[in-house]
Amino acid sequence: MTTPVAQIADAAAYAQAVETVVKAAAAYYADGTSPLDDDSYDRLVRGIAAWEADHRDQVRPDSPTGKVAGGAVEGDVPHTVPMLSLDNVFSPEQFTAWTTSLARRIGHEAERFCVEPKLDGLAIAARYTRGRLTRLITRGDGTAGEDVSHTMGTVEGLPETLSQPVSVEVRGEVLMTNAQFEHANEVRTAHGGQPFANPRGAAAGTLRAKERAYTVPMTFFGYGLLPLPDTDDALADRLGRLAHSELMTLAGQLGVNTTATTAVPGITAATTGEVLARVQEIAALRAGLPFGIDGIVVKADLAADQRTAGSGSRAPRWAIAYKLPAVEKITRLLAVEWNVGRTGIIAPRAVLDPVEIDGSTITYATLHNPADITRRDLRLGDHVMVHRAGDVIPRIEAPVAHLRTGDEQPIAFPEVCPRCCSGIDTVQERWRCEQGRNCHLVASLSYAAGRDQLDIEGLGVTRVVQLVEAGLVADLADLFTLSRDQLLGLERMGETSTDNLLAALATARTRPLSRVLCALGVRGTGRSMSRRIARHFATMDNIRAADAEALQQVEGIGAEKAPAIVAELAELAGLIDKLTAAGVNMTEPGATPPPAASEDTSGAAAGSGGVPASGPLAGMTVVVTGTMTGPLEQLSRNQMNELIERAGGRSSSSVSKKTALVVAGEGAGSKRTKAEGLGIRLATPDEFALLVADYLD
Ligand code: IVH
Repeated sequence: MTTPVAQIADAAAYAQAVETVVKAAAAYYADGTSPLDDDSYDRLVRGIAAWEADHRDQVRPDSPTGKVAGGAVEGDVPHTVPMLSLDNVFSPEQFTAWTTSLARRIGHEAERFCVEPKLDGLAIAARYTRGRLTRLITRGDGTAGEDVSHTMGTVEGLPETLSQPVSVEVRGEVLMTNAQFEHANEVRTAHGGQPFANPRGAAAGTLRAKERAYTVPMTFFGYGLLPLPDTDDALADRLGRLAHSELMTLAGQLGVNTTATTAVPGITAATTGEVLARVQEIAALRAGLPFGIDGIVVKADLAADQRTAGSGSRAPRWAIAYKLPAVEKITRLLAVEWNVGRTGIIAPRAVLDPVEIDGSTITYATLHNPADITRRDLRLGDHVMVHRAGDVIPRIEAPVAHLRTGDEQPIAFPEVCPRCCSGIDTVQERWRCEQGRNCHLVASLSYAAGRDQLDIEGLGVTRVVQLVEAGLVADLADLFTLSRDQLLGLERMGETSTDNLLAALATARTRPLSRVLCALGVRGTGRSMSRRIARHFATMDNIRAADAEALQQVEGIGAEKAPAIVAELAELAGLIDKLTAAGVNMTEPGATPPPAASEDTSGAAAGSGGVPASGPLAGMTVVVTGTMTGPLEQLSRNQMNELIERAGGRSSSSVSKKTALVVAGEGAGSKRTKAEGLGIRLATPDEFALLVADYLD
């Protein structure tokens, strides 16, 4: 990835760019706001640096290139050792060039590297005197920072006392996790404040705010441990000799939070190749992390290597930031669309001024529900911070409130269903058409006919529209009572197509209960949950007889979800009766019903979620990745998951220490690498097919 550089044409444009950057940095460090997103800021700074390289005699004294990044606010607490910034690389080639120059500088290849996530927050120094937290200082201009000790007690991961009475300074990043950010904005707007645009701005603003009527938690991750003037000599000497990885272990032992507690712990790597593999792994895990990272920091691990490499005025030469593409951009909210889904939910969707994030043009973002829009005080015309990571649907983090012009307009909520004009049920946070599933019958029938549900070949959306428009089908059950003559009466339906569709419907009638349940589209359940419910209860009658408590026996159904599922099944009662009468199968092959409620359920044969206790995969969590070949080639991911569960295992989409087996097909990437790193057993599709041969359909 190469990050583009803003083009600066002349001295006037240069002066303007410097002014913009200085103002943005000042606002950012003053209260966490900024008119620029990170990417625009970085591009501008790079443009300034490029122009200065050609005009060395015209460099302005206030240029951001001469300072430690983010040093706009000077504080009054001097740092014992400067708090430096980091130089950046953006590609494997640039990284390799850095390792080469480091090797040249220290006279040999670096003995070992430490690879850590680059946490997207603010640098802070926490001073401990004889084990007690005494002072918190921001980075400021790198040589002196601001005293923010008033936030002590609100930063998780920075304990008030260490496990040993030592005097040390812990350096690290203060940030808000995604959950802390949501919470902070709820509290802030409830107190009449403007929401923060993103977690980093929220952490910056919260850290520096002295007189607030409320406190909101933040999180600290340590990445440095150094002596203070009053540290005893033996400890100071020891800290000076320990490798970075050893310092981090020590920080953890002292009770300070480090990335070791996260899904992306710091690791050591011996070669450039290993470092780059880890960079890929962290990049792949980024979207799923509960906090923001904007890159990976690679450090020479050994103290001796660091000492020999030394530091420049801005950044150390023994460490580098491998930047990942920005996942956030500021754009404008142009409109809000209201779409009705297959279950009748009316979901708002933001229409954005198209913006490019990490190579994709983003035009839409999710908005959860009307209450969420109100809570965040979103308005049409607002500048909004849009976040997109991995394949996750882009989301609006918050309006950039300080960019408001006053011309923004309130977002109008629909008064009737935008699809069928019926009334709207607004009792729940997610609004729903009063017609429920019948509102968008085409969508709910097409979903039911889909490959992972009843898999009715020949029943695509066009055919469904035809059937609905002809008045032949008013719900799912009507499909199963269609006559040959009715079908022949439709346009473009010849004898062959009709017979094929009738045969497909006959097959659909025999599908396992888990597929039928999934086809019903019970809100709060998807494919794997439908399988778990079906395996647990074995028959539809048992499911319908289950109360909320009984449903909670199924893994993944908690106290909130259980009553919602019970209510959904009650709403679907008429349809389920009709399906049963039409001869649709309502049992799950191979599943044993749970003992009656009065019996002891603790040793239920089917286990929670009905996963049988026997089979070649009994008790194993299995992850499938890459393309399946050989006997498994035709199986969709859902069918693979069904197979795993039939064979006694549990399917999962992510690799963790709990994973027992990873089936890695062609093109398997980060999951395979992670499994190898964790020493998890790997199987090719062919090996796996042999293992579960008795359970293949
Ligand atoms: S080491 C002298 N490690 O990134 C070494 N910094 O862009 C300085 N940061 O100022 C820092 N995660 O605020 C280090 N694992 C990590 C980091 C990290 C985030 C921040 C830190 C630094 C900035 C430079």
